[in-house]
Amino acid sequence: MKIVIGNKPLVEVDNLSKAFDYQLFEGLNFSLWSKQSVAVMGRSGSGKSTLLHILATLQKPDSGSVKLLDFDIYTLSKREIELLRRNAIGIIFQSHYLFKGMTARENIEAATLLAGTKIDEEILEILEIKDIINKRVGDLSGGQQQRVSIARVLSKKPKIIFADEPTGNLDKETANLVIDALNQYIDRNGAALFLVTHDLEIAKRAQKIYQLENKKLLIR
Ligand SMILES: Nc1ncnc2c1ncn2[C@@H]1O[C@H](COP(=O)(O)OP(=O)(O)OP(=O)(O)O)[C@@H](O)[C@H]1O
Ligand SMILES: [Mg+2]
Repeated sequence: MKIVIGNKPLVEVDNLSKAFDYQLFEGLNFSLWSKQSVAVMGRSGSGKSTLLHILATLQKPDSGSVKLLDFDIYTLSKREIELLRRNAIGIIFQSHYLFKGMTARENIEAATLLAGTKIDEEILEILEIKDIINKRVGDLSGGQQQRVSIARVLSKKPKIIFADEPTGNLDKETANLVIDALNQYIDRNGAALFLVTHDLEIAKRAQKIYQLENKKLLIR
């Protein structure tokens, strides 16, 4: 599987629909380009996380297609999906999945080893976790753990970052510093950011804001 990024969007969504107990969205079309960031807002239960999961290879749509780096993801083999997940996409959840007994550095190294990259010291600096990098994760504050998990995702050097309320439990200043880090990362690495947030101030720091409403993605 050779990943070539040419004159194509990093994410291309065509006619995407999904329902659970009710129709969440129907006939969505949109694309996300290198160095582009979009924020998605919308009421609780409108389907933002579901949409993010579908784009990030984690959940199948009812119909429509998702292309990541020009790969039609729901037609790929398990192994190809694994490769794409490991090398091309980074997913940031609100609750972080770190090994509590290991240090922050060891947690980040676990990801870089798999991806064949190195810890990016600059990312640690922007996220203000350089001084706590050798502490056990279990001894860190919630917000520090959140920033370590973001550093871990970015250190894999993904092309597309999916972030589901990454600043949900952070104070305003720390939330802004996380968005700084994400924006700077996509700019320097030609990556793209798909950000779900409830916070309009945070959403405004993306280039484009969508609202998931009445089963459609509306430009806000
Ligand atoms: N795996 C699933 N199985 C069944 N129903 C699901 C599943 N995932 C999500 N849903 C349902 O889909 C709807 C949308 O959920 P989703 O988590 O996408 O909303 P959201 O917009 O992210 O909300 P919030 O802002 O509260 O995080 C909810 O009614 C939820 O119960
Ligand atoms: Mg959600």
